[in-house]
Amino acid sequence: MVDTLKISTKQVAESRLSKTDFSNLPFGKVYTDHMFLADFKKGEWQNFRIIPYGSMQISPATPALHYGHSIFEGMKAYASSSNKEALVFRPLENWKRMNISAERLCMPSIPEDLFMESISTLIDLDRAWIPKAEGSSLYIRPFMFSADEFIGIRPSEDFTFMVILSPTGPYYSAPVKVKIETHYTRAVAGGTGYAKAGGNYGGAIYPAKLAQDEGYHQLIWTDGKTHEYIEESGTMNVMFVIDDVLITPPLSDSILAGITRQSVLELARSWGIAVEERKISVRELVAALEQNKVQEAFGAGTAATIAHIELIGFEGKNFTLPAIEKRQIANRVFNELENIKRGNTPDPFDWIYKI
Ligand code: COI
Repeated sequence: MVDTLKISTKQVAESRLSKTDFSNLPFGKVYTDHMFLADFKKGEWQNFRIIPYGSMQISPATPALHYGHSIFEGMKAYASSSNKEALVFRPLENWKRMNISAERLCMPSIPEDLFMESISTLIDLDRAWIPKAEGSSLYIRPFMFSADEFIGIRPSEDFTFMVILSPTGPYYSAPVKVKIETHYTRAVAGGTGYAKAGGNYGGAIYPAKLAQDEGYHQLIWTDGKTHEYIEESGTMNVMFVIDDVLITPPLSDSILAGITRQSVLELARSWGIAVEERKISVRELVAALEQNKVQEAFGAGTAATIAHIELIGFEGKNFTLPAIEKRQIANRVFNELENIKRGNTPDPFDWIYKI
């Protein structure tokens, strides 16, 4: 815990809200009026402040720029139907995961009250920016990076923790086409795949771009050693329904422990659906695709929510999956999660944090 979390606030002279087009929000391009910052110096978190959103000065010698010494999180807030409260989905899980990432990247942990109060105070100030339209939400992006001015390699001493907010539409606006990647690697055993480290995502852009040039939206990554087992999709975890069983790869040090993934599994188990967290080989998946046994495939992530996969490509062959309307589990999970997140239905698991 930090001693006292006194957050100073410098508000914008004029809000950009009325000039923002909420009718067609893209993902991650529009930001609210304010942002939160805290400094870690001399072994302590300090200088908690909210200032107008905008460019800022950092040292050109910071390891954040040179060595990818940065981590981040992603969460979403929704407007309650009365419009009085902001509903945030499972933020404590993101706090826990951020500290797992921090440990792996040799960064200081974020105390719970710093994480929660920074988000609550910032959302409270910018709550008018929470979009109301179906499919949209306020994306919350907490992140931490080294603030040292030193280009040697060693654990940094100073850090900055920030939160920015983005009113946003869906990450994938339509069902996705994915390619099973068996050459490039996102993460290896012993690496940083389980952490939300900036570099994991930077390194994935080139292989994803090659797949996009072939007409796919995303990759399904396979394990870095043998490329025989399915891992995740980079912006989301992946799930399949085969013989009425919901199957997803088990967590490991090369797979991100998705909070949406966990929520889907908890919901499915509570409904009595058979769930298997187990290794799924490329060979098994491709055989099931060839025999038309894959009833559903979808991604689960904060930004992606539940993203139906309509097509899976492997070694030049494309497999089209059943029509979206037929997908009982993904559709049910999507609707239930949307209703819980938007406060339209009781919250039996206590997932919603109200601001
Ligand atoms: C999220 O779902 O919040 C993510 O971090 C995905 C992101 C890389 C767009």
